[in-house]
Amino acid sequence: MPTKVWLSTRGCPLDPADATISVFDRGFLYGDSVYETLRTSGGKVVELDAHLARLDRSAEGIAFVLPFDHATIADALARTLAAAGNPESRIRIVVTRGTGALTLDPRAAEAPVLVVMVQPLVVPTRDAYERGIAALIVGDREGAIRPGLKTGNYLGNIMALHHAHEQGAEDAIMCVGGKVSEGANSNVFMVVGGEVHTPSLQTGLLAGITRQTILRLVREQLGVAVHERTITPDELRAADELFLTSTVRGVMPVTTLDGHVVSKGEVPHAGPLTRRVLDAYWAYLSTVAG
Ligand code: PDD
Repeated sequence: MPTKVWLSTRGCPLDPADATISVFDRGFLYGDSVYETLRTSGGKVVELDAHLARLDRSAEGIAFVLPFDHATIADALARTLAAAGNPESRIRIVVTRGTGALTLDPRAAEAPVLVVMVQPLVVPTRDAYERGIAALIVGDREGAIRPGLKTGNYLGNIMALHHAHEQGAEDAIMCVGGKVSEGANSNVFMVVGGEVHTPSLQTGLLAGITRQTILRLVREQLGVAVHERTITPDELRAADELFLTSTVRGVMPVTTLDGHVVSKGEVPHAGPLTRRVLDAYWAYLSTVAG
């Protein structure tokens, strides 16, 4: 199954080997870019408008006036999806501030570039969702550089993940000001006493598109209360259930935290409310597929 790439400098879907951009591009040099990761369900792009709105907000957050409007991006995406022809796709939209003289000065940037990458979607197996993952809470030192913005500068998140791997965990949960913020590339939720809690946006975290969908599904479909608030690492460690949300993984149970089994059982397994959330999310994806 193919990968296809759109470059605004070329104006058509390309094979990866032909999709090259300048080494002077500021995305490459400084991470001076914004991006979105999306997926399809039944071949339809999930929450496209919300992702494009967030791309705008990320650009605004780094004083980058995007020269590509939503219609232009959506058209490039549709053409790249059609060229790839995958049953389901993982999509990355990147806009870099462009090339220019070798200086940090953003005013030196010329000709921003739009990149749309379409690849076959690979999601975890059902077994992996049942088993869940092991996560580690990392301190403030490792964490998002501009929490809340989806820029090309993910070094803090990468180092958080590296730290987690070094400690034998598969994923990192980051903190801002000593409070739990989000996963390295996901949002975090906990279940306490049959209710759902998640760090509030004021904590400093990315307003996940999946997070928003889950908040709605939990409240409206499952009829379970959700609290957006400040959460401490100790509260997270004492939770009955934990899960992460993101576009590609959807709802991923965290069954071991800082080396301890979350569900309080012997064997790590997804908790009962987490399973209901997972099922509600899969049902939502089916409605998108139509
Ligand atoms: N990451 N928090 C961070 C830091 C993220 O990078 C992401 C997404 C999320 C979840 O957002 P959403 O539900 O909109 O995917 C939260 C994507 C998947 C990525 O980096 O590719």
